Amino acid sequence: MALYIGLMSGTSLDGVDGVLIDFGSVQGPPIALRAHHHQPFDAALRAELLALNAPGDNELQRAELAANAVARSYAEVVQALQRASAATGSAVRAIGAHGQTVRHRPGEFDGTGFTTQLLNGALLAELTGIDVVCDLRRRDVAAGGQGAPLAPGLHAALFASPGESRAVLNLGGIANLTLLGASGSTLGFDCGPANALLDGWCQRHTGRPFDDGGRWAASGLVLEPLLAALLAEPYFALPPPKSTGRDLFHLAWLDGQLARHATRAAPADVQATLAALTVRSVAQELQRHASATSLLMACGGGAHNQHLMRGLAAQLPRLRVTTTAEFGLPVDQVEGAAFAWLAQCFVERRPGNIVAVTGARGARVLGALHPAQ
Ligand SMILES: Nc1ncnc2c1ncn2[C@@H]1O[C@H](COP(=O)(O)OP(=O)(O)OP(=O)(O)O)[C@@H](O)[C@H]1O
Ligand SMILES: [Mg+2]
Repeated sequence: MALYIGLMSGTSLDGVDGVLIDFGSVQGPPIALRAHHHQPFDAALRAELLALNAPGDNELQRAELAANAVARSYAEVVQALQRASAATGSAVRAIGAHGQTVRHRPGEFDGTGFTTQLLNGALLAELTGIDVVCDLRRRDVAAGGQGAPLAPGLHAALFASPGESRAVLNLGGIANLTLLGASGSTLGFDCGPANALLDGWCQRHTGRPFDDGGRWAASGLVLEPLLAALLAEPYFALPPPKSTGRDLFHLAWLDGQLARHATRAAPADVQATLAALTVRSVAQELQRHASATSLLMACGGGAHNQHLMRGLAAQLPRLRVTTTAEFGLPVDQVEGAAFAWLAQCFVERRPGNIVAVTGARGARVLGALHPAQ
């Protein structure tokens, strides 16, 4: 038995997804999911984390206090996972904890740049009594990499199939693709915005935190000139390795584009256009980098967005479009599972990054340890 907990809170800022996994079952599937728990952030913490994505007053103190609050929220998820699985703290080998990204600027400024995931790992170790591995992106950035995406390693371990080119599409705040080549190669990068903009626009115009099933987007018409203008953003044409976040794709970016290209657009049409932006940017990248792909499996919260899923199937008629659930991993558990897997990599001192994905100078053991004792 090798029990690990993975904790993820992504750029959608919807809350924390935690999974408890046994990586040690030698017979049976490669991993055994023991428990999953989702806990939304409370409204005040969510608002503060969102605010910390942009420059503001007294940031150091606010960031530290937010990091404490994230640790408390993560600890509650750990307790829920332990209750659900009857696993004691000492049975869990380690927690792989992502933290909340508030800035992601690898390679910029001084050539090294930085990526910031708010989480007080020491407090999480204190509250849970379990080894905590966090700060999982920094070493890759220090080695000249993007620090992202980090899930492709687990995607390759679970979903690659010799002789078949497959792609895994995580539809979180940002969409990221993992390309699993028929010959065993693994590529991966962030495509561009997904739920971060869809949620933001939906919240602003309907008051609802997300567009359930994509029904509001489905009621609108895609504004082709606006879509073309959005797709002209240079990020989409960059070759991998590349990663992005709310640093670039935020509502102010969209507002600037609307002011130039669609001043009187109906809100539902903008939502439809944002959904089309996600679909079109994914299709474009698949065409460019993995045209032989025959199977696309989606995961992340956006896989619940039927309008997005229908759009992908329509835009990619030669691919079979499905979700990771068909391959044994429910869509809301994949990213959490990746951080449990990264914790195991750390414990076993195995590299967690893939050089072809992040662009780092070499394979590195990722993470910093806060021991239980
Ligand atoms: N029923 C649904 N219909 C439409 N969208 C949904 C639905 N359920 C979840 N979502 C979307 O999924 C988002 C959460 O997805 P997820 O947790 O995968 O993203 P994330 O936290 O940004 O993660 P990551 O950065 O790890 O990819 C929500 O904010 C919402 O936009
Ligand atoms: Mg989430």
